[in-house]
Amino acid sequence: AATVRYEAESAPAVCTGTVDTNHAGYSGSGFCNSDNAVGASSQFTVNAASAGTATLAIRYAHGGTDTRSANIVVNGATVQSASTFAATGAWTTWSTKTVTIPVNAGSNTVRLEATAAAGLANIDYVEL
Ligand code: GCU
Ligand code: CA
Repeated sequence: AATVRYEAESAPAVCTGTVDTNHAGYSGSGFCNSDNAVGASSQFTVNAASAGTATLAIRYAHGGTDTRSANIVVNGATVQSASTFAATGAWTTWSTKTVTIPVNAGSNTVRLEATAAAGLANIDYVEL
């Protein structure tokens, strides 16, 4: 099936932080700049045609030099611990990270949960 894009700034997505627009190149009307805290998150509700595994693409920017990592939590279960979001060189340089996740048929919640004190990288959208 075709992939669908889910913007971090559009409900039912939830950003624990601010939706910002100060770094060009994002899709939609902004991106999620999470709080600078462990546990800060960007959460999405995504649809899967069938149960199994799916490829989740996460568009993000990380203009710092510190390590930004996140637990990837699907339907309440951590499916990847401290998954690294590599630095992109500038906050306006957006990159895509893909992860394979288990999904149920229909609606699934996917939460990126910061494991570093600086919070998440800036999150633009996910596609599944
Ligand atoms: C800068 C940048 C933000 C980013 C933040 C961070 O303030 O402008 O977009 O989220 O650094 O380090 O998390
Ligand atoms: Ca931030």
